[in-house]
This record gives sequence, structure tokens and C-alpha cells, in this order.
Amino acid sequence: MPSLPVLLLLAALSVSHSEYQQRRTRLRQALPNSAIVLLAGPDTSSDPRSPMLQEPNFYYLTGWSEPSAVLLLLPESAEPNEILFLPPHNERNERYEGRRAAAGDNGVEALTGISRILSADIWESEVRRLAADLPKLHTLTQTSSAGAVKRVLPNAEWADAGPAITRLRMTKSPREIDMLQRSIDVSIEAHLAAWKRARPGLYEYQIAATMTGAILERGCERNAYRPVVGAGPDSAILHYSANRRHMDRGELLLIDVGAECACYAADITRTIPVGGRFNARQRELYEAVLGAQKAAIAAVKPGESLGPRGAVIQAARDYMDQHGPQINGQSLSKYFIHGIGHHVGLEVHDAAAPGEPLEPGNVITIEPGVYIPEENIGIRIEDMVLVTAHGAKVLSSALPRDAAEIERRLAK
Ligand code: GLY
Ligand code: MN
Ligand code: MN
Repeated sequence: MPSLPVLLLLAALSVSHSEYQQRRTRLRQALPNSAIVLLAGPDTSSDPRSPMLQEPNFYYLTGWSEPSAVLLLLPESAEPNEILFLPPHNERNERYEGRRAAAGDNGVEALTGISRILSADIWESEVRRLAADLPKLHTLTQTSSAGAVKRVLPNAEWADAGPAITRLRMTKSPREIDMLQRSIDVSIEAHLAAWKRARPGLYEYQIAATMTGAILERGCERNAYRPVVGAGPDSAILHYSANRRHMDRGELLLIDVGAECACYAADITRTIPVGGRFNARQRELYEAVLGAQKAAIAAVKPGESLGPRGAVIQAARDYMDQHGPQINGQSLSKYFIHGIGHHVGLEVHDAAAPGEPLEPGNVITIEPGVYIPEENIGIRIEDMVLVTAHGAKVLSSALPRDAAEIERRLAK
């Protein structure tokens, strides 16, 4: 349990205004002589079942989490070269939803870290006035907001800002790595709390509840994705998240749960034996998946890719086939039916250019698994890994994954 000063330090961890500014500068440099227009996420407050989730590219460039804002970036030499448009105050809505920032508020520039704040009532006319004569226009052409932006200058050619922002998002800054490490550390606490509680007769949702409780208890906003807690036959369903079944002694329990803290996601899976001991068959398969994971992590380095024909997944497949049992006359890797991993950041499946080689500063998962429904066995082991100059550093290594160590922990 972290001490109080550590908890306060964790709570204070955030990305500075100057880092957001630097990201916007880098985007301008990547898309020179251009106007870039991005819309924040829509206001979902009229739907009580929908949380406000900021559009992640908008958040990456601003750190602003309120809805219905608009960001306009202009070429470096323009004055101003960035404008944030905020919805005007609405007394009635603010009685329901709480105070929101608006143009003209005292200190709104310091609050947002952007020196020109205007009312969102005039964003379209301002974009027309400031951007119409520029040689290039960019927005997120692949998102639902594209139509609203393009309509402002309907005869202009709008190019996609997505790939340039994705390239920036793929390389995590030192501060982002700290933020991800915090989400990982909280997720590890949640997994350990689940291990402490897991026993025959409990329902899967009770494990999910314990883990969500641990995540919220640490001040994190939410689960980064629907908790997957699957026992026995449910362990063989990749994205099982009904979590309704009760678990029996001798079954495997697959737990894929991660926290979202200060908007950064973690994604961690462990597979543990209900009742505390792997049986011989489970252990044989577990060792094959664990060895495959270690082989894949050893293959991670700059220049390699996470793609289906890359060296990282091939290392996992080879290990399974050389060290694991055959199943129904098939090599074990036939039962490894998904990708080896993905980037993680503001989103659990974070922005990434398909097939792009790994680079130092990338944060990815390595998550081999085998799923054998006819044996009621699913095993996945998923860790988060930082790509370094020469290889990889496992950021979630504090959560045991060796079978004997898991059994020791479950016996406590
Ligand atoms: N938890 C989702 C995934 O592993 O990709
Ligand atoms: Mn994953
Ligand atoms: Mn996962």
C-alpha cells in the first residue's frame, strides 16, 4: 500500500501546458502552411448512460476534457497561430452539469494553456476568415466530426490530419510513460486484489467488482475497457465480458482488466487457477503460452513490427510449436487466434500506423494466448512493454506471471 505522500504525488501527475504546446508545434511542423481544425467530443450530458469521453486526438493536443470545443491551428508565423473556441456559458445547463469554462472568463487562457480563446458561436466564420486562403486544410477526415468541419469551406480540399497526429501519439514522452506506469501500477493492485479474493463458488462479476473498486479507490476514472473475467468455458471466449458465471475449483480464470487513470490506459491479462493449483494439463499449456510471451518480448526491438508476419508474433508461434503439445493433431499456435499486441496510450487500442516499425518510446502489449473451447481452457498472458533503444522493458513486471509464483500468491 503506497504511503500518503506517494498517493498525493500520484494524484498530482499530469501533462504540463508546455508539453501540450510542444505537441501542437510538432503537428504544425509536420503539416506546414496548413490550417488544422479539430472538434472536441460532443456533449453527452442529455444521455445519462453516456459518459463524456473526449475525442482522443483533441485531448492529445490540448489536454482539454470539456465537450463541444474547437481547436484551430494556423501556420507558425500567423498571429495568433492557435485558437481554442469554447461554448458560451449556458446558465441552465451549468445548473445541471456544473460550471464550464468559456471565452471571456477571467484566467481562461491560463486554465487552457492557449493564449487565444474565442466563443464557439463564431468558430465557423473564423475558420472561413483565417483559413480560406491557406494552401492546405486538415481535419480528422475519418471521424464523425469531419462533415461539420468540411461544410465550413465546402469547396476546399480537406486532407486527413490523422496520420500526422498518430505518428506523434505513437512515441510516448517521458511524462506519458510516467502516466502509463501509474495506470499499470493501479491495475496491478487490482489484479492482486482479485487474486486475494478468487475462490471456488464466487461469481465472475464479484472479481470484476473488486477490481473496479480498487481502480476507483486510487482515484482513476474508470476501467480502460470492459473487464474480462472468464472462468472455465468463458476463459476461451476472447472478449467475454458478461461476467455472470460462478467459478468452480479446477477451472482456469482469465482476467483481462486495466485501469484508466488521468486518461491513460493500462491493459493487463493474467490467467490463474481457481482453487490455487494448476493441474498438469493447464500447467503444460500455461508454460507454453508464458514461454511464447517471453520469446516475443525478447524479439521486441526498434525496426520490428507487431504485424501478422513480423518477427515478434513469429517468435511466439515458434515457441508454442516447439515446446507446447499438439492439439487434435494440430500445432498449438493454431489455437493462438489473435494478434500479438497493440499500442497503448490514451486509448487501450491506441493510435498506430499499420505495419509501422517499432521505435523507442512506443508502449505496446505483448499478449499471446491459446483458446481450446473443447477443453474449457483459455490462457492469455498480457503485459505492457516499452520499446527501448535496443530492446524492451516490461512495465508490468511487478505482477507475477510464473506459474509457481502465482500459486504461491494464491496460497497466501
Ligand atoms: N483488453 C483488450 C485487449 O487485450 O486488447
Ligand atoms: Mn490488449
Ligand atoms: Mn487486454
